Amino acid sequence: MRVLLLILVIICASCKNDQHIPEVKKPQLGVIADSAMVVSAREEASRIGLNIMKEKGGNAFDAMIATEFALAVVFPYAGNLGGGGFMVFRTQYGEIGALDYREKAPMAASRDMYLDTDGNFISDKSKTGALAIGVPGTVAGMFAVHEKYGSLQMDEILAPVIALASEGYLLTADQAERFNFYNSIFEEVNGTESIYSNDWKENDRFINTAIAETFKRIALNGRSEFYEGETADLLVKYLSSKKGIITKKDLLNYEAVWREPVIFDYKELKIISMAPPSSGGICLAQILNAVEEFPIDEYGHNQTRSMQVIIEASRRAYADRSQFLGDPEFVDIPVDSLISPYYLKDRMNNFSFDKATPSTEISYGEPLGKESTETTHYSIVDAYGNAIAATTTLNAAFGSKMYSNELGFFFNNEMDDFSAKPGVPNMFGLIGGEANSIAPQKRMLSSMTPTIIEKNGEFWMSVGTPGGSTIITSVMQTILNVYEYDMTMQDAVNAPRFHHQWLPDQVLVEPQGFDRIILDSLSSKGYLINQEDAPVIGKVDAILKRTNGTLEGGADIRGDDTAVGY
Ligand code: GLY
Repeated sequence: MRVLLLILVIICASCKNDQHIPEVKKPQLGVIADSAMVVSAREEASRIGLNIMKEKGGNAFDAMIATEFALAVVFPYAGNLGGGGFMVFRTQYGEIGALDYREKAPMAASRDMYLDTDGNFISDKSKTGALAIGVPGTVAGMFAVHEKYGSLQMDEILAPVIALASEGYLLTADQAERFNFYNSIFEEVNGTESIYSNDWKENDRFINTAIAETFKRIALNGRSEFYEGETADLLVKYLSSKKGIITKKDLLNYEAVWREPVIFDYKELKIISMAPPSSGGICLAQILNAVEEFPIDEYGHNQTRSMQVIIEASRRAYADRSQFLGDPEFVDIPVDSLISPYYLKDRMNNFSFDKATPSTEISYGEPLGKESTETTHYSIVDAYGNAIAATTTLNAAFGSKMYSNELGFFFNNEMDDFSAKPGVPNMFGLIGGEANSIAPQKRMLSSMTPTIIEKNGEFWMSVGTPGGSTIITSVMQTILNVYEYDMTMQDAVNAPRFHHQWLPDQVLVEPQGFDRIILDSLSSKGYLINQEDAPVIGKVDAILKRTNGTLEGGADIRGDDTAVGY
């Protein structure tokens, strides 16, 4: 009886203020480097990017192009030539900016193109096959970067990528498993066998001569090879044979766009993140601004109160996302109002620690002056002090599963990021409205959140992740883990994550690493905890500048991600 009482006393003491004190683990440091670093989803891509800087004397922008293209070879799951992405940068001189190389709807796209005659959403059509594909932006994006900030010749940057594709690379266990899982789907969608049609095993060498030839033509002929040349001809011919609607005019009209990033403060941090057509920067600003009002460091990491604050801030941000955000060339977005601290304070007014705010009681707000799970992220810092955060995607794993044997790459299914029918969720469960409806030449809303952070006017962190709608909340938690909970970059990236996106009204929680007492406490307050549907939330890759000036890489243990530096 005495023992029982003692146990009860200990449990009650540790649950004070809904706090459960976890055992203290020794901090784990990631890879440390003095000068430069690349963190990406695959070691080969990280090394190619690093060598461009270390061996060839290139800068972070040259390294970005090499890493992005290497990921198209070594990580076809999300790395791409047939997709698009976003990049946020800070130069050695403190200049900041953002590049949008997001896909666009083809000219023949139309608002109701995924609805049947009764107005029902045929969800497969926006996800699989040629109609799901947006006009790819990656090649235009890399040439835009090269033109403005590159220092090496494009053929020099492409040489190791071509070698990687033609000499091949060794498959990891994860990669072999994925290829084997998907290859029958590729055959079904494309009606033919491909280089993926095999029984792959870990350490098998995977060679892609078709993509090597595509890269050789790009090295020779430049940007126009992809948008007007032989590659464009092969691309349009292939997609047309599969009832696709992308024409040569769509390719000719594609341009990457330099954009003003979303910039906001969180305490002493200046956070620079992606602007629309990604929702990333705005939602990140909304969540962090709302969280800033609460002493979440005192509440503790992944404790009831800190999780409540983050969940409720996220719920409100995602409700606004569905109403206000879309391609800025098609809709007026009240960016300043949406991220104004006054507006966000007001949005949190009906939040109480006593119980969850049901999402049915949360709609989008009324900002003053009312007037977008598979992707991949890499972070790069060079020895000059240039920093890059870039997130690139085919949308779903291997995108639309459409693969051209002649070109050697997959095509995106980014059209599913549009709101095909108001109120009907896309593959990430995201609900959208008019602002993100389909229109010819429009960019679909994204959640990609490549982010650079300054502290005391200096570069402090480059961070981002894949994960569809969970991208924003994964980036947000990683920032808080370092800033509020003093974690190392590696620990911050590894730490267990959770996610709420307004609808569905549930808290996705990774199965490992959360305290049962905390989750039960949240359930008792009305939060629906779902630990079944998200075995992994995000794969964050990040670089932190430490107080002693060295760089620490955070390469997510959830994937094959690797940090390399010198
Ligand atoms: N395709 C996922 C996103 O852009 O959010």
